[in-house]
Amino acid sequence: MASCFRGPLPGRPSLPLFLLLLRVSLAQERAAATSLLSGYFGTKSRYEEVNQHLLQDPLSLGPPDPGYLLPSAACAPLQLRALIRHGTRFPTEKQIRKLGQLHRLLRSQERPCPAAQQFAHWDMWYHPDMDGKLAPKGRLDMEQLAQRLAARFPGLFSPQRRFAFASSSKHRCVESSAAFRKGLAPSTDVGNEETEINDKLMRFFDHCEKFVTCVEENATAMYEVDAFKQGPEMKRVLEKIAATLCVPLRDLNADLVQVAFFTCSFELAIKNVNSPWCSLFNEEDAKVLEYLNDLKQYWKRGYGYDINSRSSCILFQDIFKHLDKAIAESKSSMPISSPVILQFGHAETLQPLLALMGFFKDEEPLAANNYKKQMHRKFRSGRIVPYASNLIFVLYHCDQAKTPEEEYQVQILLNEKLLSFPHSEETVSLYTDLKNHYKDILQNCHFSEECELSKTNNTSTDEL
Ligand SMILES: *[C@@H]1O[C@H](CO)[C@@H](O)[C@H](O)[C@H]1NC(C)=O
Ligand SMILES: *[C@@H]1O[C@H](CO)[C@@H](O)[C@H](O)[C@H]1NC(C)=O
Ligand SMILES: *[C@@H]1O[C@H](CO)[C@@H](O)[C@H](O)[C@H]1NC(C)=O
Repeated sequence: MASCFRGPLPGRPSLPLFLLLLRVSLAQERAAATSLLSGYFGTKSRYEEVNQHLLQDPLSLGPPDPGYLLPSAACAPLQLRALIRHGTRFPTEKQIRKLGQLHRLLRSQERPCPAAQQFAHWDMWYHPDMDGKLAPKGRLDMEQLAQRLAARFPGLFSPQRRFAFASSSKHRCVESSAAFRKGLAPSTDVGNEETEINDKLMRFFDHCEKFVTCVEENATAMYEVDAFKQGPEMKRVLEKIAATLCVPLRDLNADLVQVAFFTCSFELAIKNVNSPWCSLFNEEDAKVLEYLNDLKQYWKRGYGYDINSRSSCILFQDIFKHLDKAIAESKSSMPISSPVILQFGHAETLQPLLALMGFFKDEEPLAANNYKKQMHRKFRSGRIVPYASNLIFVLYHCDQAKTPEEEYQVQILLNEKLLSFPHSEETVSLYTDLKNHYKDILQNCHFSEECELSKTNNTSTDEL
């Protein structure tokens, strides 16, 4: 598991040396090409992409961050709330069917075409009933994340503590929760606690009528995404791939090319191999396809429409409810009833919440016509919500506080790295300051009102 791209070197001493060297250098070339692409896989990125040290040692906590309150003897974590995206998954049924379609197209090629021929021998090993299920690598993502969190917060994850598990009803999330428990099992006795299925919190988007009608099921809501699919950047990629594969341009479209790119990402994430699908793309193509993926995330889950993030205020408020409760218990010297809350959901759970809180917001919206301008955007879903991404709220109790406000402080980690709060640019906040900053959302965002359709005037979506 340690190394990312294993060459065929060990255990093959019978190959002549020059052939061996040739094979190694070919493998390295392909590995280098894939790793050039792997930073652009968007929501289909491996977790290792945002924490590269894990490629060497999956249990490493990475370079120490002096920003942690943790090492200071004065502050002790009281409560930890983790929102965790499921681990690496298989493609969905829809993606698998499209891939099958593309694969058949290439195999039915009659003209000799070297680039297409490599797919004649490629084994279409995905089958539709894998439909988005957690891959074995996804289980490992979760077990190892559990072990790292337990190592980072040994007090909270000590065997006597109580753990509250909740999950989206989706198979991959329930399985992720089980794998996470298994990761904790060697040091704790968490095997028997129930995972509560809670779609109200983990799939709030399904329960928000306004979101479903105005965004999810609205054929025109993704017009920027559709425009980019027809735009000049995508056209150039399509023409190049059509020429490479010797197929008429009319047989290809943005969706098929995106499926080829996703297959490259799946093969790397699930099997840790360099698939021939990767060889169709260079870094420029990858940037275009990443933008296509980010555009969709932006308009469907991010800042594109207000309802995307407003629908998550039910989860946001639940987080603060439990923080409040822990503080009240602490103040009256009672044991903390929920010291560790672990909740398993989706990229679609995390992204809206991060937008609600104001993270990764660019000055201008992502649009079909500003690809170049957005080259250095903050909103890159591969950096924010790869597989196994996690958003963690840690509440600390600090002794020796000079004022009562200083007694309770909060840090937020995204993918195990401290996030700077949008209101202060600092990596730690007094709990009172944080509540004050988000006062409007905490007091005035009511899920049922926000998500109610009848209150909407059907005129403009700027207000969505
Ligand atoms: C669908 O989205 C478009 C574009 O944002 C908007 O103009 C339209 O009003 C929406 N339709 C519905 C039914 O929400
Ligand atoms: C909807 O539009 C009507 C008429 O334009 C206006 O009187 C009403 O206040 C609007 N309702 C909301 C909730 O914005
Ligand atoms: C607004 O849209 C809803 C549902 O699409 C419809 O029932 C209602 O009549 C519309 N109202 C106006 C004023 O257009």
